[in-house]
Amino acid sequence: MVKKLERNAPCWCGSGRKYKQCHSAFDDKLIMYADKGFFIPDRDIIKSEKDIEGIKRSAVINMAVLDYVGEHIEAGISTQQIDDWVVKITKEMGGHCAPLGYDGYTKSVCTSINDVVCHGIPSEKEILKDGDIINVDVSTYFEGYYSDSSRMYLIGNVSDEARRLVENVKKSVEIGVENVKPWTTLGDMGSKINEFAISCGYEVVRSIGGHGIGKEFHEDPFVSYVSNPGEEMLMVPGMCFTIEPMINAGKHDIYIDEEDGWTARTKDGSLSAQWEVQLVVTEDGCELLCW
Ligand code: MF3
Ligand code: CO
Repeated sequence: MVKKLERNAPCWCGSGRKYKQCHSAFDDKLIMYADKGFFIPDRDIIKSEKDIEGIKRSAVINMAVLDYVGEHIEAGISTQQIDDWVVKITKEMGGHCAPLGYDGYTKSVCTSINDVVCHGIPSEKEILKDGDIINVDVSTYFEGYYSDSSRMYLIGNVSDEARRLVENVKKSVEIGVENVKPWTTLGDMGSKINEFAISCGYEVVRSIGGHGIGKEFHEDPFVSYVSNPGEEMLMVPGMCFTIEPMINAGKHDIYIDEEDGWTARTKDGSLSAQWEVQLVVTEDGCELLCW
């Protein structure tokens, strides 16, 4: 339920402006969409300009970490080495690694190779080899705000199939970003990603998706890439979330490693790739905050 404030009251968004000059018209619009049956966001996930500035400062660290990984990653190193780099750069820049201790996770980054869909756990024993594709998923906490993005890296000489998958998944994220428009739904956006993946002969993972983010690592909404147009939450200015489809070269089915409780793999052993960006919805589209 959207509860309107008194016209001259300070706006609920924390801008310091009067409600009538700030989110009053926004609330009217939201009420109209709610009446039409749309799934609308709660106020606590709408970010203020101050919040966006905070997220951007966190993202500076997150992106520097991924840049560093990109400059140093090569065949022969272990995924633990990547974890060590992530910890080192994050600490040097004054941030904290959000994955460490999250829900009992014991490392500071996720490293997902080939058929690993996501949440691969770094290990001394896991050595990168020529032809591997790997997703490195970095998440940073800095002065009250979270940032989150992931990139794929090609190790040495990669098969055409693997390269094509990695490039197309990147393209699918770009398609998602182009389709973030306020007052349309997450299903409108996500379905475009699914459509593209299918046209490439791939399948999108269903049970794991993107998420709201900002003051918490994972906030509402859940961001699916297999829902239909018109479904899921309405996108509105100030909403901040990730687009991070996991796309399999084969079937969409995945399973979680029983021993570690985290590592997700494709059931059919096919390759899987993922790129992740974090964005804020604006008045006419979106702005990327972390990539
Ligand atoms: N970084 C992942 C995401 O994109 C979350 C990883 S949770 C962890 O949402 F505990 F495995 F780090
Ligand atoms: Co994420």
